[in-house]
Amino acid sequence: MTDTLTITRPDDWHLHVRDGAALQAVVPHSAAQFGRALIMPNLRPPVTTAQQAVDYRQRILDAVPAGTAFEPVMSLYLTDKLPPEEIERAAAAGVKALKLYPAGATTNSDAGVTDIRKTYATLEAMQKLGLLLLVHGEVTDPAVDLFDREAVFIERVMIPLRRDFPELKVVFEHLTTQEGAQYVRDADRFTGATITAHHLLYNRNAIFTGGIRPHFYCLPVLKRETHRLALVEAATSGSPRFFLGTDSAPHPAHLKEHAFGCAGCYTALSAMELYAQAFDNSGALDKLEGFASFHGADFYGLPRNSGTITLKREAWTVPETVPYGEATLKPLCGGEQLAWKLVA
Ligand code: DOR
Ligand code: ZN
Repeated sequence: MTDTLTITRPDDWHLHVRDGAALQAVVPHSAAQFGRALIMPNLRPPVTTAQQAVDYRQRILDAVPAGTAFEPVMSLYLTDKLPPEEIERAAAAGVKALKLYPAGATTNSDAGVTDIRKTYATLEAMQKLGLLLLVHGEVTDPAVDLFDREAVFIERVMIPLRRDFPELKVVFEHLTTQEGAQYVRDADRFTGATITAHHLLYNRNAIFTGGIRPHFYCLPVLKRETHRLALVEAATSGSPRFFLGTDSAPHPAHLKEHAFGCAGCYTALSAMELYAQAFDNSGALDKLEGFASFHGADFYGLPRNSGTITLKREAWTVPETVPYGEATLKPLCGGEQLAWKLVA
């Protein structure tokens, strides 16, 4: 049995760090685990210009504890009206990606895209300049059942998008279904996907066990067990199409424990421990490094990290709450024991 695991320093290719006091609270957690993180742009107002991304990146760097090397990789928020010239400025400023939120799909997505065809001139510029498109892959059509929104997105958006922009690199973010995993597995090298730790570890029963449990509510929502198993198979397959993206999404505890509870699981505090558990459960710890440290960097066309991290099989208890500005934050699995611990 493997009890100590040393791997190349991993990256988180899907992370929400918010801004202000919230940012100060959460950035140190990610910086302790990862070499880089792709920062999601769904602030209020969203990050839609190269200059805003540059300024936001500096605020994140200012929150990194001294002596820790952590690099925020920036994205812009795609809107119906984002001008193609902004893509040139973004590329020049080191921005790597644009995030497509279908309008109304999730937290702070009201400025999102109402019809992807409206963004075609911008996507053209991205394809030309090598910026990635990161998609929240759910349709928002209220006639489509919440649990089917990812599968329908493949038919209505992904297939036409791939046909019209065959060389645009597209990341299908936070995959949650068997259909999504199969689509990405069979796609060509211009399509990749992130998978969260919570979608590898839990199915939708977790939201309803012993009462409604808002800290397991995220979007896309957890699905049934068959889907979880398909995601585990994809993540542990060794395929370079699949890589780590926590979608760690902090919200004040009182806004999750609410009549209209916010979507998002906070996993940054123990992200690698959760992924190690998921890979260990399927006897695939040997596949963790590729998924966590190589496939994402390779897909983004960035160098792999040079340092390492070490995880040890050592039980510890995740804190129930952590400070979050004036509020508190409840990490996923707070108060529970995890079997793996990040030790260096
Ligand atoms: O659960 C989620 N939370 N899903 C998203 O797509 C957004 C995120 C957030 O920003 O809170
Ligand atoms: Zn997200």
